[in-house]
Amino acid sequence: MNHVFHRVLGGEMPVAVKGDGVFIIDRDGKRYIDASGGAAVSCLGHSDADVRRAIIDQTEKLSFAHTAFFTTEVAEELAEHLISSAPAGLDRVFYVSGGSEAVEVCLKLARQYFFETGELERRHIIARRQSYHGITLGALSAGGHVWRSEPFEPMLFQAHHIAPCYSYREQASQESDEAYSRRAADELEAAIQDLGPETVAAFIAEPVVGATMGAVPPAPGYLSRIREICDQHGVLLILDEVMCGMGRTGTLHACEQDGIAPDLMSVAKGFGAGYQPIGAALVSGRIYDAFANGSGSFRHSHTYSGHPTACAAALAVQRAIETRGLLANVRARGETLRIALYDRFADDPHVGDIRGRGLFLGLELVADRETKQTFDPSLKLHARIKREAMARGLMCYPSGGTADGVRGDHVLIAPPFIVSPDDLDQIVERLGAAIDASVTSIRRASK
Ligand SMILES: Cc1ncc(COP(=O)(O)O)c(C=O)c1O
Repeated sequence: MNHVFHRVLGGEMPVAVKGDGVFIIDRDGKRYIDASGGAAVSCLGHSDADVRRAIIDQTEKLSFAHTAFFTTEVAEELAEHLISSAPAGLDRVFYVSGGSEAVEVCLKLARQYFFETGELERRHIIARRQSYHGITLGALSAGGHVWRSEPFEPMLFQAHHIAPCYSYREQASQESDEAYSRRAADELEAAIQDLGPETVAAFIAEPVVGATMGAVPPAPGYLSRIREICDQHGVLLILDEVMCGMGRTGTLHACEQDGIAPDLMSVAKGFGAGYQPIGAALVSGRIYDAFANGSGSFRHSHTYSGHPTACAAALAVQRAIETRGLLANVRARGETLRIALYDRFADDPHVGDIRGRGLFLGLELVADRETKQTFDPSLKLHARIKREAMARGLMCYPSGGTADGVRGDHVLIAPPFIVSPDDLDQIVERLGAAIDASVTSIRRASK
């Protein structure tokens, strides 16, 4: 068992053999409570009988049919389900196999849209620093996370980055939410003016920033101002809901809570809940019509687009969320978790901020709460927390580079929507112990 090229080399990893509700069990029988859904993926837990049944039923009928030759009933049905609950104006679904592919599709749809409509100068993509939009070269170019993109820099296309909307560090103490959200959003206006409005194709952002910042929601009014600026300049708005979407924040789409709709939206992760690899780009009717009235084809495709087994799994997941009323659970359990985190960490000298929406919450860790000074990145606090958490049978999602792409640490918590109050108690207790042990190990090492 040593031919797999793991993402981090040299470490020993437990071997996962079974899923049981919110738990993953390893080969030695150790149970890990999944407080992060992997990376905000496993929204139904790990052993959902309905989803497993749907996958088996589909494979007994038809496992695969290439989309160059056929559509399938299940792909059509899933698209209908998605569009019936999508933000206003979104009317078509382009299937892919994951989040990075969904973002690539959104970026390329944006560019080809202007190719179809004859606005050939529109080519620039504007995004935000400290964002993550995926790991393929296009998605990585759009993302703003220094550590992830550094080795590939010479191969990336040049995207333009504005500041994230990051109240904890960027909002001045006397500044109102309205003034701050306006100031942060107006960076987009300035970037568009700098580049020349007629050259900008799209702006892409995660409504609630996940992997790279730890569940940072926008300040009130930020996204509606962004929508307004995009509309003023004919720039397409891409919302990347790969991580924060499909119910994670307590509404099916995160942007519902901000009262706006994008032109393009990427979804993945919770869409198939990990039962099958699947993602999608949701596309406005206006963009689709430009293709239909133009060249008639999108010059992009994947062999596994609309894979019937993956569509069957996603359809079963989405039906389960709807019929079992799980969004209400996300809101209720999310509130319980938020309160439990406040109770446990409000006085912790190293937890600077507790934030997020629904079951998508984050803790930002600091060396000093007063000054918000980060831990030295070389100490890799986030990696220590992950190690300590796993030792205690807890999966959470710590990461570094929170403050500026290099400095800063956070822990993301995104448990399955079926999590119980008892599970939440366990999560908070083990997380507290893991953070304490990690900080203690740093103190010891520095003596
Ligand atoms: C917001 C966002 N976009 C895109 C991606 C890429 O998704 P995937 O890892 O499925 O390619 C991620 C993954 O974490 C993400 O959080």
